[in-house]
Amino acid sequence: MNKTIIIQGSARPKGDTNTIVNYIALKKGYDVIDLYSKNIGHYDYNYKNEGDDFLPLISNIIENYDTIIFVTPVYWYTMSGHMKVFFDRISDLIRIHKDTGRKLRGKNMAMISSSNSNDVVSGFNIPFVESANYLGMNYLGDIHVWVENDNIPAKVKGIIDDFIEKK
Ligand SMILES: Cc1cc2nc3c(=O)[nH]c(=O)nc-3n(C[C@H](O)[C@H](O)[C@H](O)COP(=O)(O)O)c2cc1C
Repeated sequence: MNKTIIIQGSARPKGDTNTIVNYIALKKGYDVIDLYSKNIGHYDYNYKNEGDDFLPLISNIIENYDTIIFVTPVYWYTMSGHMKVFFDRISDLIRIHKDTGRKLRGKNMAMISSSNSNDVVSGFNIPFVESANYLGMNYLGDIHVWVENDNIPAKVKGIIDDFIEKK
């Protein structure tokens, strides 16, 4: 198996982050999951959200893909809430569904942050790098990209092309 999935974490399905996701998905033929379309509740110590979309979604990812590319907009200097909730819920795999969680070991993770400017705070990638490390995943790297007036500037296309060719 050598399959890649993009996980989109924007608060709008067809916004700037989706413009980036579509560019990559069309070029590489990658599958895409839009977290906005999923019903994923906040992490709960009493596992209140056990019947929502999280477990089927992560199980599908684990069974079918080796590489996960997280694509998140920059919201308040960090990842989007949708993406943070997804990461919080991985705790269910550490506390309860441990066999499923262990299957993340050896998989690959990459991250793309997007905004409207060539500017991202230093350390934005730390939660991704450290989470990959904790989960035993290989961290393939990250880039910051930006969308201007609904378009991807030529320079950004170059950055993306270089990045995805190495994946
Ligand atoms: C709630 C919110 C917070 C934001 N915070 C930041 C920020 O801290 N830094 C930044 O450069 N842009 C920030 N932005 C701008 C977005 O990163 C930018 O518009 C991005 O392209 C939006 O992608 P989307 O259309 O997928 O939501 C913020 C936008 C929103 C909606």
